[in-house]
Amino acid sequence: MIKLVVCVSGGGTNLQHIIDRISDGTIHEAEIVRVIANNADAYALERAGKAGIDAVCVSPKSFDDRGSFNQALLKAVDEVKPDLIVLAGFLVAIPPEMIRKYPDRIINIHPSLIPSFCGVGYYGLHVHEKVLDRGVKITGATVHFVDEGMDSGPIILQKAVEVMNGDTPEVLQKRVMEQAEWIILPRAIELIAEGKVRVSGRRTEILESPDMEA
Ligand code: GAR
Repeated sequence: MIKLVVCVSGGGTNLQHIIDRISDGTIHEAEIVRVIANNADAYALERAGKAGIDAVCVSPKSFDDRGSFNQALLKAVDEVKPDLIVLAGFLVAIPPEMIRKYPDRIINIHPSLIPSFCGVGYYGLHVHEKVLDRGVKITGATVHFVDEGMDSGPIILQKAVEVMNGDTPEVLQKRVMEQAEWIILPRAIELIAEGKVRVSGRRTEILESPDMEA
């Protein structure tokens, strides 16, 4: 059984799907030992509370400088000795010291098909605004390991989603969540928990091909 810390900033729908897949037994080799939010108003904190999961807020606003915030964030993680840190809509930069301390043990869900529509300024609804501006017909979501670059770590899973005529950023965001994010993030956790993801340089190898229909 691996121990997860899930980091969140907002609504926490991805967190909710991880909680649900653990309770229905789809993810059976992992448990969430702590949820960390960077924002006290994050609805994700309520979701964690309802599920009886330890939840803490570590906000940059409570610290004089970035270094002190980074230290507090790392402490909140280290305290529960996680095997895997899941960034489920965590919209603050991860301290480099945390990335060095947890190599290949931090994963992130990004709402596009990396390397498209990622990097600085590409987060949340902005990603979908830019997808619609550019007029692409296919978008999607990516789960990847976190390295010291921005959205540049080894890709674990991706799933494509169609852009439809008349989409607004909000409508597209919801479709990408429903058809991609809420499926591939729990699936990636399950695969890692079962020891089925091998990292080799910039690539990952999935030792058993995931059934994307589930
Ligand atoms: C999700 O769409 C996630 O992919 C995105 O934030 C949203 C959080 O929603 N993350 C990023 O943009 C990271 N670059 P949620 O709080 O409902 O899970």
